[in-house]
Amino acid sequence: MNILVTGGAGYIGSICSEVLLERGHRVIALDNLQEGHRAAVPPSAVFLEADLADRRELEKVFATQKIHAVMHFAGEALVAKSVREPSTFYAANVGCGVNLLDVMVRHGVDKLIFSSTAATYGEPEVVPIPEDHRQAPINPYGKSKLRFEQILADYHAYTGLKYVTVRYFNAAGASKERGENHRVETHLIPRVLDTALGHLPEMEIFGFDYPTPDGTCVRDFIHVLDIADSHVLALEEIDHVQGEAFNVGTTSGYSNLQVVEAAERITGRKVEHRLSARRPGDPAVLVASNEKLKRMLGWEPKHSSLEDIIQSAWDWRLKFPRGYPD
Ligand code: UFG
Repeated sequence: MNILVTGGAGYIGSICSEVLLERGHRVIALDNLQEGHRAAVPPSAVFLEADLADRRELEKVFATQKIHAVMHFAGEALVAKSVREPSTFYAANVGCGVNLLDVMVRHGVDKLIFSSTAATYGEPEVVPIPEDHRQAPINPYGKSKLRFEQILADYHAYTGLKYVTVRYFNAAGASKERGENHRVETHLIPRVLDTALGHLPEMEIFGFDYPTPDGTCVRDFIHVLDIADSHVLALEEIDHVQGEAFNVGTTSGYSNLQVVEAAERITGRKVEHRLSARRPGDPAVLVASNEKLKRMLGWEPKHSSLEDIIQSAWDWRLKFPRGYPD
């Protein structure tokens, strides 16, 4: 299949592109390179620098490429930024998404896998969180992603678009060649590894008075290769699972301090850290039920023990200590 990967130069989009190419698909990676890196795009993918905000540019992409399906990763994804700048999130995650859907409809492209998030649930009432859990996001990031989930259902009703929503918990880890390299890094594991490398003198652990065993937030870390696998399975089975939402997580949660300890063990280095105030918008615990993904798509996590995640991220960091060359 020819697959348009939006955000194809980003962390998850580039690694999904790598996996799609390995499985014999053709990848057209689209990215505006604001956050993504040209060097992250696999060499055998077609790369198009374009912005989803620009409808005319998008038209050109669909007019010149034969596209069978879209995997939509492009968007804004930082919880803390969303609390400061909600409009950026609604424009990118809702407005640009609608541009994409409209151009897909005009060109008869009717398959989409959407990258959504655990942040659409808000504070969980039940852990592990099942897909039919109440969705009550507590930050604009989660709200913008939830809006787009709802919009997809409308497009299905009105245009026949087939779509699957994949809600990631905390994406982490690396493939051999590609890893997590944000221009401003705010995510826990990369910051822990930057501290282990000495790029940061020390890091903060945000919040130590959460209702969790050690007082720090608990997250469900999922290897990016297992996320990629869920996308490939969802696309292959889209006729049977159209309109479904799937969590991608492991059902195991680790606290921020447990992550620091695991990283110290794996890297053999000290991770200097201090406990500080809560970061606005952070739920205390996010842990996925993955029963539905296993049952309906036969997915199994293969790379997502905390050890494997941190080890792969560390190996990538040692290979590319300053990230991608651009
Ligand atoms: N944290 C720290 N110190 C840091 C960085 C993070 O203590 O320097 C803490 C956060 O406060 C939070 C935890 O580590 O408690 C995880 O934070 P991340 O920033 O790594 O990830 P988030 O949980 O905020 O969000 C990520 C993605 C979202 C996704 C969400 C779903 O950024 O896109 O996971 O769980 F929706």
